[in-house]
Formats: sequence, C-alpha cells, structure tokens
Amino acid sequence: MSTNIHSDNYQSICVKDPIVESNNSHIPPIYATSTFSYEDLEAAFAFFRGENHIYTYSRFSNPSSAFLAQKIAELEACGLKDIEARGLLFSSGMSAISSTLISQLKEGDTILCQSVIYGAASDFIHTDLAAFGVHTIDNNLKDLDEVLRIIKGNPTIKIVYLETPANPTLYCVDISAISKIAHEYGIKVIVDNTFATSYIQQPFKWGADIVVYSSTKFMNGHGTGISGAAVTRNIDDHKKLFKILKNFGGHCSPFEAFLLNNGIKTLPLRINQHQHNAQMLADFLEQHDKIGKVNFLGLLSHPDYELAQEQMHGPTGMMSFELKGGLKAGMAFQENIRFCTRTASLGTADTLITHSASTSHSVVPEEIRLKNGITAGLIRCSVGLEHIDDIIKDFENALSFV
Ligand SMILES: Cc1ncc(COP(=O)(O)O)c(C=O)c1O
Repeated sequence: MSTNIHSDNYQSICVKDPIVESNNSHIPPIYATSTFSYEDLEAAFAFFRGENHIYTYSRFSNPSSAFLAQKIAELEACGLKDIEARGLLFSSGMSAISSTLISQLKEGDTILCQSVIYGAASDFIHTDLAAFGVHTIDNNLKDLDEVLRIIKGNPTIKIVYLETPANPTLYCVDISAISKIAHEYGIKVIVDNTFATSYIQQPFKWGADIVVYSSTKFMNGHGTGISGAAVTRNIDDHKKLFKILKNFGGHCSPFEAFLLNNGIKTLPLRINQHQHNAQMLADFLEQHDKIGKVNFLGLLSHPDYELAQEQMHGPTGMMSFELKGGLKAGMAFQENIRFCTRTASLGTADTLITHSASTSHSVVPEEIRLKNGITAGLIRCSVGLEHIDDIIKDFENALSFV
C-alpha cells in the first residue's frame, strides 16, 4: 500500500502521490466532476466567504490538480528554507503568465520586461496589458547599472518580468542581481522557468518572487497536453493569484493535470537524457563547416556560459543555431529533416526543430528580433530522448542538402 510519508528528495517528490481518495487508488484518479456536494453546509458557505479551502466547484479547484499544484510548489522550493511556496495550475502557460501579471498590476503601473521573451507573452504584455493602461519598458537586463537607472527613474515599475534561459537564444539573466535591485525598490520579480524547470534552476533560491511555467513543455514531457503553472513565494501573492484564477476561469482541467502528473514522475530522468543528447548534438554542430553559430549553454562559446554554471545545474535540452547560408540554408535544412520533427513546441520525448522568426517569435517586431539574436536563419532545436546517433545522422543528412 502506498503511504503519505514525505521525502525532501527532488526525484521522490516527482514520483510520489498522496492518497487523494478513500479507495486507496494507487494513481490519483481523474475527478471528472464540475461540482462537489456540500456535505457540511457551513464549511461550503465559509469557502465562498474565502475562509477555508474545500472542493466546491472545479473552476476553483479539483483534487486532480490541487495535489499536483502543491507538488510543483514543493519541487520549486526543494532544499530551500523559509519559503511558503504555493502552486496553482492553469489551462496553459499563457493562462499562468497572464493571470500572474494581472494579479500583480493595475492601471498606471509599469513592467520592466526582458527585451525578448516568448512571443505570445510579449504580445500580451505589449498590447493586451497596454490596453488596460499598464506600461512596459523593455531592456535586456544585462547591464545592472542601466537597470538601476531605469528603476530609479520610473517609480511606477511594479514588476520585472524575465525568461531565463530565454527562448530561443538561451540568453540568461542574473536572477540574483536583478532581484536585489528590484527588491530595494519594492518591485517583484517574475521568472518564466519553462526551459530549465526547477530540476535545473530554482529562481526562488536567487530571490525571485513568482515562478511561471508552460508545463506543456518539459514538465509534461510527452507533448500530450497543454497546461501552465505558477508558484508564489508567499501566501499573499498566492491569494491574489487564486482570485484571478477563479474570476478569469483559467483552471487546468482534471485530465490535463493527470497527464502532467504522469510526466513529472520522470522529469529528472528525462532532463538528464535531454541534456546528454543536446551536449553531443551541440558539439557536433559547433564543428560543422556549414554552421555559423550554436547557442547552447553547455558550450564555452555561449556568452552566458559562466552565469549558467552559477545559476543552473545544467545546460537544458534546448539550443538554437544559425546556418552560414542564412534563411535559404535554414529552410533547405528543415526541408530535409526526416527523423526529427518539424514543429513549434519543445520539451517532448522526440527531437523538435522550428524556425523561431516564423513561429514562436513571429509577433515580435523584426527590428527587436534582430537586435536580440533571432536572425532569419536561426533554427531552434529541442533535443529529444532518441538515440543520439539517429539525431546526428538526420542532421548530417539534412545539412548535406544546404
Ligand atoms: C518560454 C515559454 N513560456 C510560455 C509559453 C506559453 O505556453 P503555452 O503554450 O502552454 O501557453 C511558451 C510556449 O511555447 C514558452 O516557450
């Protein structure tokens, strides 16, 4: 029989589930129900007054997602002291990101935003939030004196929003340095940790206030569903976010939560293999005469190699690279990929390649894309779990057509 004995070990937290119902189901069941009957009327009414947490309605919470949200929060704070991490699950990464930002901002506030982040997040911040009177200042968050100058000169900044490593260049931001500056001015730091996951990088360790995820990616790990997560460092931020979750209605469905929990059980094992394969592929590409540049955090040539060594426990399974022949060569390469998959997502068991400028970052203005290394010939690769020989063989063959 399974038990509720708790472990502080990251891998064990990933694997173990609490017993969430009385039938001793080994795997937590999918609670396909919109409502929960009110056994104790007073307890139910107290929930609606915001005084307790019982299950009443699945737009608010559901047992299939509640334990998992807490599991993700525990992973985020694993080994760290004095953090009351709380998690919430959303219908997508974008739902987690937009809800988190809305929970923290009001008309007249400003976000200091990393210059290039995931396209839809960038679009949401620059157009949808702007429509509600929230301003944005873009900066690559690299020059700390400049960041300080911007913060000092703009007292309406309430949030620093960043994605590290960033999609698709793998540029990193020093979370600790940025958090120190931000906190001095009462500003909160939100980190999109989708590429790294808490197995590789724990933003709370470096001072971040809220961590957001597209759990569609490495956390689910198999490309079977869409979901998002947000973990707050303190209860007050959790309460603000829970209110937005209820009112905007972006709760993760029980089925998606079930898929996500299955994926998380093997997260460390998969990430280890993703990283191993990615290192081999990056070494191969860096030596290839048709490749101009490889962005991979396991290569000494990456400008953020040192920072990644300090802040992360590995290079992730993500990379991007530029062909010397630019856009034409990049297209020819993609046309001739046979074994790997051409698609815009990432973090699945199989290797995925995509052309960032026409997919994930198509909504980012060209001038900003180019300024931040997203050139017309840049190909992003999410390295999968296949045998590395097959991945390299496919790349070698596709490159021969360039
Ligand atoms: C870094 C990053 N954050 C957020 C998202 C949005 O996630 P979702 O598609 O689950 O809404 C993505 C999607 O690709 C992403 O790459």
